Amino acid sequence: MPVFDRLSIVLCHAVVPLLVVLLSVSGYPQTFPCRLIRSTALCNSCQLTAIPDHLPHKTEEIFLDNNLLLNLQDGCLSRYPLLRTFSCGNNRLMTVEESVFSESPLLKNLNLANNELYYGHKQVAQSLSSLSQLKTLDLSGNGLSEDMVSLLVQNLSSLESLYLSRNAMLRLDESTFRNLHQLRELNVERNLLFEIDGAFDHMKKLQRLNLAFNCLPCLVNFEMTQLLVLNASHNSIEWFITNQNLTETFQLETLDLSDNHLLFFPFLPTKNRIRTLLLSNNRVGFYQHLSNYTSSNWSTSVEYYNLGQNVSSITVELWNENLHGDLSSVELLDLSENKVNYFPQGFIQQMPHLYWLRLRSNCLQSFSLTPEDLPVTLYDLDVSRNRLTELKASQHSISELNNLTHLNLSTNDLQNVPTRIFASLPKLCTLDLSHNTVDVCYLPSSSGCVEWSNIVSLKQLYLAGCSIQNIPSSAFKGTPLTHLELSNNPDLNLKQESLEGLANTLQHLGLGNTGLQDFDFSLYGHLKSLNICRNSLPELPESLIALNLKLLDLRDNMLTTIPSQHAGMLAQRLQIVYMNGNAFNCCHLNWYSTFGENKGISIVDLSEITCLDLNHRRHKVVLLDAIHCGGFSNEESVVWYILLFVTVSVSIMGISVIYMLTFKPRMLPRAIKKRCWRPAPY
Ligand SMILES: *[C@@H]1O[C@H](CO)[C@@H](O)[C@H](O)[C@H]1NC(C)=O
Ligand SMILES: *[C@@H]1O[C@H](CO)[C@@H](O)[C@H](O)[C@H]1NC(C)=O
Ligand SMILES: *[C@@H]1O[C@H](CO)[C@@H](O)[C@H](O)[C@H]1NC(C)=O
Ligand SMILES: *[C@@H]1O[C@H](CO)[C@@H](O)[C@H](O)[C@H]1NC(C)=O
Ligand SMILES: *[C@@H]1O[C@H](CO)[C@@H](O)[C@H](O)[C@H]1NC(C)=O
Ligand SMILES: *[C@@H]1O[C@H](CO)[C@@H](O)[C@H](O)[C@H]1NC(C)=O
Ligand SMILES: *[C@@H]1O[C@H](CO)[C@@H](O)[C@H](O)[C@H]1NC(C)=O
Ligand SMILES: *[C@@H]1O[C@H](CO)[C@@H](O)[C@H](O)[C@H]1NC(C)=O
Repeated sequence: MPVFDRLSIVLCHAVVPLLVVLLSVSGYPQTFPCRLIRSTALCNSCQLTAIPDHLPHKTEEIFLDNNLLLNLQDGCLSRYPLLRTFSCGNNRLMTVEESVFSESPLLKNLNLANNELYYGHKQVAQSLSSLSQLKTLDLSGNGLSEDMVSLLVQNLSSLESLYLSRNAMLRLDESTFRNLHQLRELNVERNLLFEIDGAFDHMKKLQRLNLAFNCLPCLVNFEMTQLLVLNASHNSIEWFITNQNLTETFQLETLDLSDNHLLFFPFLPTKNRIRTLLLSNNRVGFYQHLSNYTSSNWSTSVEYYNLGQNVSSITVELWNENLHGDLSSVELLDLSENKVNYFPQGFIQQMPHLYWLRLRSNCLQSFSLTPEDLPVTLYDLDVSRNRLTELKASQHSISELNNLTHLNLSTNDLQNVPTRIFASLPKLCTLDLSHNTVDVCYLPSSSGCVEWSNIVSLKQLYLAGCSIQNIPSSAFKGTPLTHLELSNNPDLNLKQESLEGLANTLQHLGLGNTGLQDFDFSLYGHLKSLNICRNSLPELPESLIALNLKLLDLRDNMLTTIPSQHAGMLAQRLQIVYMNGNAFNCCHLNWYSTFGENKGISIVDLSEITCLDLNHRRHKVVLLDAIHCGGFSNEESVVWYILLFVTVSVSIMGISVIYMLTFKPRMLPRAIKKRCWRPAPY
């Protein structure tokens, strides 16, 4: 019997929509815009101006987004008593009449985002107040002020998720969301909030709060212990201060304070579960070194007053290390783009579960790459764009950092890096040392250089802009590199033997601006991507034609053409090619049509590629038509000019003769007479 049951269910599901479609075709002459899937009606983007009144009675979900509705009239939903979800976002709704939802007692999800409900918000508020089961409400993008919002949600005490982004709220206080005790998620992103005063105190279930893109100047006396995610990015926050009196554990897991004006590391709860701490784009620094001046007349404590009332004023001792709170659960710390110039003693070690540490664009001058100063769990470390001149590390203990896989030290001033330091990191896979001054060792045991051989974990090595001049033979032997970036070492003297040992692994090779001349690429059969831009190459190295390249960067060389047979082979394999900045000959552009015919290849900078005609005039290849090309057409045009000139001159002469003959007939005899005034002797 169960088999039969399932069959009947399948039949039902198949037949009901079919029936509806048939009905609509026979009973209603107008086209039926909605798609029906079980009890869901999908009527998005149908140019509708009213709610369709012929959907099945049992419809539970109606989606009417992107239509042209101006208002919802009483009774328009009364046909659908089982309605659970109603979505009418992106219309032009100005109001919703009072009893629209009075016959939709089951409605749980209501989306009215991106309309113009500020017009008729009072009426809308009344219509909403009958929705005693509503769980999710989206009123984003409706031009609402905080008073309007307060009225709209006044009686929605069952609400669990409320979305209010892109409205016009200025401040929130305890009256704004007074009855929303069940709220779990609140999004007030992209309003104009400059003050929040006790607005969330009664929301004991609130777990996700998004305050991003507002104008908040600080978050003080933070005490929402139940919150899991707080997003306050893109405000003007200078201080984040927890109520330090609370002894219970804060549930907070994600705190996003990026893109603010923080001066100090946030004062986190003394007990918390924060795993993701995002502080990029602030002005965070550490000031402990100033604490030695406390005996003198320096002010070391700051008082904070709540802007609105004098309820809480908080005094903190700025140099007190405990203020950083509990960091023991942090896994990701993003401090990119701040003003950190040192870390207090033991600061990073407070995070024994740290996997990702992002310190790009700070002011660090030295960094200690030792298990004493870094947690051994560390997986990804980015210290690029600082002022590092020194990398402290001991070759013996560094191997304890056995989870460190990605290390970015690019754009610093590193000069003396311990010779085999990177070889001692057991898991190191990606290393970026670009834009430092690092040499490649000639002999083992030489100093002032880095050795790259036999680092068995290393796959990707970036050494762009390192002022490298020589790479000795077999420098990378025993290191299974798939990516090697050597671009922007203009004095590099790359020899065939330099890359020995990489033939079976190398997939990406960057040799842009390296003075490349003749290099035989044919050994490197696994290469997928090759950059040889800015090398003054007069022609395409023949050895790379047979490679199975997917990406090729040929920009800024001296190529005049790509021979047809090469173009054909390249076009079959290449997917992406860059080629502007060459000296292509306009008359040898067969490669262009070959590439054009091949759909698989994309010339990324096509619109910028130029060619030179015989007169050394530049033409954009895309705009070029055949007439510009060829010596023949040029000589021909000169002939045409001469012909034109001759024709015009002859015509002018002819016209003047005729003119003289016609209008000045006396001139002729006179001229003749003048010439022959003395009668010739006969
Ligand atoms: C909310 O409920 C109260 C009491 O029932 C009522 O006076 C008020 O008008 C309702 N609010 C709205 C917006 O309908
Ligand atoms: C915080 O909100 C911004 C803006 O919507 C978003 O880009 C960012 O990803 C959010 N942060 C987190 C941790 O979700
Ligand atoms: C913390 O506790 C102290 C002493 O009990 C009190 O004076 C202060 O107002 C409290 N701070 C806050 C923010 O509650
Ligand atoms: C503070 O002074 C003490 C003793 O004078 C010194 O040992 C310590 O390094 C100083 N601390 C800082 C952060 O400068
Ligand atoms: C601070 O300055 C005042 C007046 O200049 C002086 O009387 C006081 O002793 C100083 N305090 C300390 C801790 O040096
Ligand atoms: C705020 O300050 C005023 C005047 O100083 C005082 O009368 C009032 O009681 C204070 N309010 C609170 C909540 O402490
Ligand atoms: C290494 O880092 C990764 C981060 O992706 C983490 O999942 C893993 O648990 C770490 N391993 C150890 C031993 O810490
Ligand atoms: C290293 O950091 C620089 C600058 O922050 C960035 O441009 C580069 O892509 C990073 N390298 C890697 C391998 O991710």
